[in-house]
Amino acid sequence: MAIQAPEGTVDLLPDGARHWDHFRRTAFDIFSRYGYSPIETPVFEQTELFVRGIGEATDVVSKEMFTAISGGNLGKLLNGEKLKGKSRLSLRPEGTAGVVRAVVQHDLVPQGGAPAKLMYAGPMFRAERPQKGRLRQFHQVGIECLGAEAPTVDAEAIIMLMRFYERIGIPRANMRLLLNSMGCEKCRPAYREQVRDFIHAHAGELCEECNHRAEVNPLRAFDCKNPDCAAVMASAPKITDHLCPECREHYAAVKELLDAAGVTYVEDPKLVRGLDYYTRTVFEVQVVDGMGSQNAIGGGGRYDKLAQEVGGRNTPGLGFALGYERCVLALEAAGVEMSAPRGVDVFIACATDDVRPKAFELAQIVRDAGSSAELDHQSRSLKGQFKLADKLGARRVAILGPDELAEGKVKVRDMSTHEERLVDSDMMERFFGQFGGKKFGE
Ligand code: HAM
Repeated sequence: MAIQAPEGTVDLLPDGARHWDHFRRTAFDIFSRYGYSPIETPVFEQTELFVRGIGEATDVVSKEMFTAISGGNLGKLLNGEKLKGKSRLSLRPEGTAGVVRAVVQHDLVPQGGAPAKLMYAGPMFRAERPQKGRLRQFHQVGIECLGAEAPTVDAEAIIMLMRFYERIGIPRANMRLLLNSMGCEKCRPAYREQVRDFIHAHAGELCEECNHRAEVNPLRAFDCKNPDCAAVMASAPKITDHLCPECREHYAAVKELLDAAGVTYVEDPKLVRGLDYYTRTVFEVQVVDGMGSQNAIGGGGRYDKLAQEVGGRNTPGLGFALGYERCVLALEAAGVEMSAPRGVDVFIACATDDVRPKAFELAQIVRDAGSSAELDHQSRSLKGQFKLADKLGARRVAILGPDELAEGKVKVRDMSTHEERLVDSDMMERFFGQFGGKKFGE
């Protein structure tokens, strides 16, 4: 049998790849209006970064990381030798840790400097059990803002995220924005103890893993997918009742800014998110219907201690990431047709074989003028060439016939209006440079 793509991965075929590119560009277009600049970090990092940044007790790190073994290290490992820290590499399960590592390494937020507002897009890798909306290689678009702790950063990012979803066509009514505050290193430890005590008091009603979580990281019990555990944890102490005055004030300010911007949200004190770096604001956007259990299309929050965790100075941060494949499912569930600009500006068709060299030359002239051009490479009949032009979504077909060429003309047909126009062949460059994919008269 022919070799297939690995489980939990998908090929983005040309239409899909074009859509992903359009999606990413749309996101970057919106995010750049808010001052975000692109950043690219490696798809693999030292495993230690994720262990320290995301947290050893999280599912993402303890169960879902793909670890990469480079070259000769496989032999060492098979011989029972231990690898040095630098040689222990993992594929990135998310983008935040790598971006924060880059910010620290390159000192992108010098002391007293302006915040670094960064955006990224690319594949992430998690060794999860694949199902609808859950892949082992998926695509995220995300942003990270480092260097400012003001609640305006949180609110601005959330508003921008919601604007993006609406811009790509997910109806607002299909989405639920969940909001919570996770407190800080001042108020969270005491709260964590209360949750631990709560888990101990309900040990018999909770799964084995939640009981184990009580010892390592009790807040993870809020994330348990077991419905019995979720029912028990619903009556656990709520973080929002235990915030210190500074965190309470910060949270209130974020909510006020969202209210003023008309962004509706649901407060969910059980929202802890699956990564350990969060402090204060956390949020998640879920699709209300038609997506099953994998209904989170994006999420994020504040991580004021992460830069320090990876060896940098105290640099507050906030960010989010959204899952491309889940957004595609959300668009499908809403019955929104996904389309990315496609098609060729002009298909150059030949009525007879002797004009093919001229067609080849004209195609080059059109491309040099900045439009896209395609022609037949398989000796098709004129009818066959029109069929191909149609399949390629050509906006225009330039028809080259011996008679027109003898007069130095090319017939150009607009494929949507069927209007035809004779263009001087030596004016093709100007014609397509000027009109590109536009309709006649536009
Ligand atoms: P996350 O919630 O783990 O957050 O992932 C963000 C989004 O990625 C999810 O809401 C979901 O849409 C998508 N996603 C996650 N796992 C999968 C999967 N296995 N298959 C398909 N889609 C998936 C983060 O990754 C954080 N780095 C967000 C962040 C940025 N927080 C602060 N800054």
